[in-house]
Amino acid sequence: MDWEVFWVENYHIEGGVPLRGEYRVKGAKNSALPILAATVCRGGVYEIYDCPRIGDVFAMVEILNSLGAKTKWEEECIVVDSRNVSEFAVPEHLMAEMRSSVFLMGSLLVRSGEAQIHKPGGCKIGKRPIDIHISGLEQLGFEVGTEEEKVFCKGVCHGGKITLPYPSVGATENLIMAALAGDGDTIIQNCAIEPEIVDLQGFLRSVGFQVFGAGTDTVFVKGARGLKRNLGTPKMYFLLEDRIEAVTYMCAVVGTRGRAVFRNIRPSIINEVIKTFERMGVEVRSCENMVEIWCGKTLKSPGIIVTQPYPGFPTDCQPQLMSLCTKVKGLTTIREEIFESRFTHKNDLINMGADIEICGKNAIIKGTDFLRGKEVEARDLRGGAALVIAGLMAEGETVVKGTFHVQRGYEDLEKGLKSLGGLIEKKREKT
Ligand code: UD1
Repeated sequence: MDWEVFWVENYHIEGGVPLRGEYRVKGAKNSALPILAATVCRGGVYEIYDCPRIGDVFAMVEILNSLGAKTKWEEECIVVDSRNVSEFAVPEHLMAEMRSSVFLMGSLLVRSGEAQIHKPGGCKIGKRPIDIHISGLEQLGFEVGTEEEKVFCKGVCHGGKITLPYPSVGATENLIMAALAGDGDTIIQNCAIEPEIVDLQGFLRSVGFQVFGAGTDTVFVKGARGLKRNLGTPKMYFLLEDRIEAVTYMCAVVGTRGRAVFRNIRPSIINEVIKTFERMGVEVRSCENMVEIWCGKTLKSPGIIVTQPYPGFPTDCQPQLMSLCTKVKGLTTIREEIFESRFTHKNDLINMGADIEICGKNAIIKGTDFLRGKEVEARDLRGGAALVIAGLMAEGETVVKGTFHVQRGYEDLEKGLKSLGGLIEKKREKT
């Protein structure tokens, strides 16, 4: 009997080669997603430079198209023409592909005065509710209704002062955009202060909105209910660099005991990671927009790492650091404080020879002398990247399946690693 055959892409990695060379960091996924959503706030033609060609961005672009925007990729940018956006409902099947489409609630409210999305649902790293988004919208004056998984939102935004119960990155971004629909001004307190929020503010200001304070815990948004005109001329915007991509490559370099120069990365936005590397014995040299790292001596454990909102150690770098710590001297404790189940990669690491124990929110990692190549499966984006790093650190061949998770957030990861000398190929294979 003939079974249906599916084609998948797998990474094949031959480990043990120190990565060396130079890498230019790409534009940030977590800036691209809210900024693409923000192109809807005001009709116009937007050229977004350094936009990564990754699965999550493709999904956002498809949603923009479904709302009536026209989009096209050019060599160095994506062009979004949002002048004819007419829809206010994000189709369910597209919403399911990417939870960040929740940002469109804010931007559609500015543009159309109403928005309809579907609850994004949980994912492999935890439940990921949107209660902070919803209660913030209600406090701004919007009426929010839910019917099974649908969320509707409309009404007049009067603005005012709201305080977030937790500094959620997505809720901060969504509420900044929604507050632009106000006939009054808004102050949002206890905001997240991630650099990507500063980038969103930069974009919104560049197209005529008044937002101040991003990067601090209080943001002021001037209501722009009267601002309906389309932008007169095309707007160019350059995205912030991807600090998580930078750290992922750095972990691969350190894990293979290599040496590399990273361009287009400000050390100030990865300060906590640099301090962690230095505690491990990694040599780091940096200037305004460049970081060089190399390993001069035996690496030791960084001790206890706790993930925290910015400027603390980023949860998005935790899995990659875990791979790194499987082969350093001593015991490392990684405490995950942001998401409830972000150790999806640990069983595969154990299978490769790592010594890891999970106790509640803590992963306790005892450094071993070597990892061996195995067939492993990416189950989420950063966990998948961690397995690629482990494969580069291991002896023999590692096959990483489930690469679509990795491709959601990394453009051509295999090409970038190859450019540093890594032996990695992406192969199309039958299941
Ligand atoms: C963003 C980033 C993601 C990163 C995360 C934390 C984007 C596109 N994604 O995700 O890469 O890992 O920040 O730095 O920028 N929460 C609630 N209720 C809400 C919202 C959030 O309970 O309404 C909880 C979440 O379940 C999670 C925590 O707050 O436990 C942090 O989530 P949040 O900061 O909102 O992360 P995201 O914006 O989803």
